[in-house]
Amino acid sequence: MPQFAIIIPTLNEVENISPLLANIRESMGDDASWEVIFVDDNSEDGTWQQVFALAQEDARIRCLRRIGRRGLASACIEGMLATSAPYLAVMDADLQHDASILPQLFAALTSGEATVAVGSRYVAGGGVGNWDATRTGMSRFATRLASSSLLAPCQDPMSGYFAVRRDIIDSVAEKISLNGFKILFDILSMPGIPLKVKEIPYVFSTRMHGHTKLSPSVIFDFAWLLTKKWCSSVPIANFLVFCLVGLTGVLVHYGVLYLLLRSQNFVLAQTIATYAAMTSNYFLNNIVTFSSYRLSGVKKAKGYIKFCLICSFGAVINIACAHLCFSMGMAWFAAAGIGIVAGSILNYIFSRHFIWK
Ligand code: GDD
Ligand code: MN
Repeated sequence: MPQFAIIIPTLNEVENISPLLANIRESMGDDASWEVIFVDDNSEDGTWQQVFALAQEDARIRCLRRIGRRGLASACIEGMLATSAPYLAVMDADLQHDASILPQLFAALTSGEATVAVGSRYVAGGGVGNWDATRTGMSRFATRLASSSLLAPCQDPMSGYFAVRRDIIDSVAEKISLNGFKILFDILSMPGIPLKVKEIPYVFSTRMHGHTKLSPSVIFDFAWLLTKKWCSSVPIANFLVFCLVGLTGVLVHYGVLYLLLRSQNFVLAQTIATYAAMTSNYFLNNIVTFSSYRLSGVKKAKGYIKFCLICSFGAVINIACAHLCFSMGMAWFAAAGIGIVAGSILNYIFSRHFIWK
């Protein structure tokens, strides 16, 4: 069984496949047990046919051909999940990533020195090759934006070239963002995993064949991922998002109440509307506010019950505070406002502490 798997996403890279495999063979040698998994999104230039032809000659080469799907991150994750190898690496097919450092990336993992080993352009000995000022500036800027959300120091979190222990991928597979290019950043800002990073320098090469797939939508995906990370990791931003979600809950509440009042009595309609709002708040918080801690499966169901309990308690505190303020002579809207703020803070702290921890 292979020890090392190299996952290579491809989209119209036919001319790069043979030279890339030659580089990988040279660097990994024949003694180590490795395999290469190409994940091709049904390229039209013959990429997957080329890989399958080469796979007939070498059992270490595999190809996953995906139909009707696109995306670098999702391709990498599927490739990683398709192998039993305990050590995984991701690299681009276009020869921009220097295959000669693959053994060093894997050695950092097998020695226990790191759980994530990064091919880095921004440590001594690394470089961006002959990028123009615009691309260099954009990359630097994106790296700086990403840095504040990192949970382990890394100079090149935007790198598309890295190796990782498979148990880490197994534990975060359901949470990783499937859109965009930035899997490494996503992993390095994921709470609750054993992160030990080692960076291995390399110089980014110029693309010889084919062309880049970096598009405005990839930049948009990155901005969205960054926003979610930022909202999850900066407490005040996180609390404001929680409040915004709460506001959408108010809309849901009134919408449901309005519809139900046509056929139901007020108390029943108000009760159902309350739980509808809690439910939509819960699912939105799980996706947006606490995206880094997102729950799934049984934990998600348990979290929902806890959320309803916490919000019910929050409502009691809200009413008690408002009543106290009102009975002390405060104007009704100020008293209600204090109740809402107290209830929201309590809901937030308890949710963060007991559900999305
Ligand atoms: N399967 C699949 N599906 N593969 C894709 C897709 C897709 O939708 N989009 C791109 N790829 C493959 C390409 O064929 C290539 O092998 C690799 O992903 C990287 O794509 P490029 O288009 O060459 O990306 P880049 O050079 O602009 O960006 C690379 O370098 C950046 C560092 O500046 C990537 O590695 C980024 O992740 C990295 O941040
Ligand atoms: Mn490239």
